[in-house]
Amino acid sequence: MRKYTIETAFGIDQLHLTECAAPVAVPGQVLVRIGACSLNYRDYLMVTGAYARNLPLPLVPLSDGAGVVAAVGPGVSRWQVGDRVVGTFFQGWLAGRLRAEHAKTALGGAIDGVLAEQVLFREEGLLPVPEHLSLAEAACLPCAGVTAWHCLYGGGLTCGDTVLVLGSGGVSCLALQLAKAAGCRVLATTGSAAKEQRLRDLGADGVINYREQPAWEKEVLRLTDGLGVDIVVETGGAGTLLQSIKATRFGGRISLIGVLAGQQGEMNPLPAVMKGVTIQGVYVGSREMFEAMNRVLTLHRIHPVIDRAFPFEQAREALQHLASGAHFGKVVISLEGV
Ligand SMILES: NC(=O)c1ccc[n+]([C@@H]2O[C@H](COP(=O)([O-])OP(=O)(O)OC[C@H]3O[C@@H](n4cnc5c(N)ncnc54)[C@H](OP(=O)(O)O)[C@@H]3O)[C@@H](O)[C@H]2O)c1
Repeated sequence: MRKYTIETAFGIDQLHLTECAAPVAVPGQVLVRIGACSLNYRDYLMVTGAYARNLPLPLVPLSDGAGVVAAVGPGVSRWQVGDRVVGTFFQGWLAGRLRAEHAKTALGGAIDGVLAEQVLFREEGLLPVPEHLSLAEAACLPCAGVTAWHCLYGGGLTCGDTVLVLGSGGVSCLALQLAKAAGCRVLATTGSAAKEQRLRDLGADGVINYREQPAWEKEVLRLTDGLGVDIVVETGGAGTLLQSIKATRFGGRISLIGVLAGQQGEMNPLPAVMKGVTIQGVYVGSREMFEAMNRVLTLHRIHPVIDRAFPFEQAREALQHLASGAHFGKVVISLEGV
């Protein structure tokens, strides 16, 4: 079988495609023939060395994959050969709060990921693919979907809330879809005129172009009668956080996840204090959250938005496409014959 690895050097062009023996499932493990993977911004950071310098190299990148069970190790009872399954981002975070030991089980970072034709998962680190979804659609969920879910529901989402999503990438589109299904009003920002209508088509009630309106928080306040939004899905990080605080209502909440607008910076946090805004760090989520999200996706027949699917052999091109920021929703890598 074939797999991609980050060897000793970083960079998309440095990604190695190698042939190796198929792994063998030991007790508690399940071997999955991968049908599709999806890319997250994290994978781009990982491959280019911007995520962490102390990665366990060589490393198979990517956290998100779905496929079909090819073999089960001794004692495995949850799965059978032929089941359609999707992996969980943290193989070890099943429920409850995030603990340090859970972080050591992140696919495509702390441990080998899914950019391979066959991958071993922990028995409990898999979920069934919701029936209405293809493997490619299911592969969009482990990181982007669960993060979006956690940002909303970990922030106490209530029907009728106004939610702000920044940009039109994987997390933001899924957060938009989930928030609409929950009966919320959604405002979205984008830097692309071409994506404005696509966000509206996906359900956004208001769209702000942050290139045309660099002070986009003022427009958010205008659209909310000066109050601000209840929840922000903060994908920008240091470069947008102060604006997000200004765009949040008194007593509102910011789910801080991203680094799209810069990883470092200085800001005055006082406006968050004076408005009683809760800023919560979110690191993907647990299997329990994934299961809860799947129930809602199934109930509302929600399909993740796939921008484009690349063949396995073009994983580098797929990463370059993600890096360009031209995509809307998710970028997928499809494997043949599954
Ligand atoms: N903490 C966690 O658990 C977690 C989990 C998932 C993702 N993340 C982080 O969340 C962010 C989004 O991840 P993703 O995988 O959804 O990314 P993605 O799919 O690559 O989304 C990128 C999109 O974000 C928008 N964007 C770029 N710069 C922006 C800026 N300065 N302000 C607002 N929007 C901007 C662009 O959309 P437009 O063209 O529409 O402007 C771009 O296409 C990343 O920083 C990622 O590392 C964190």
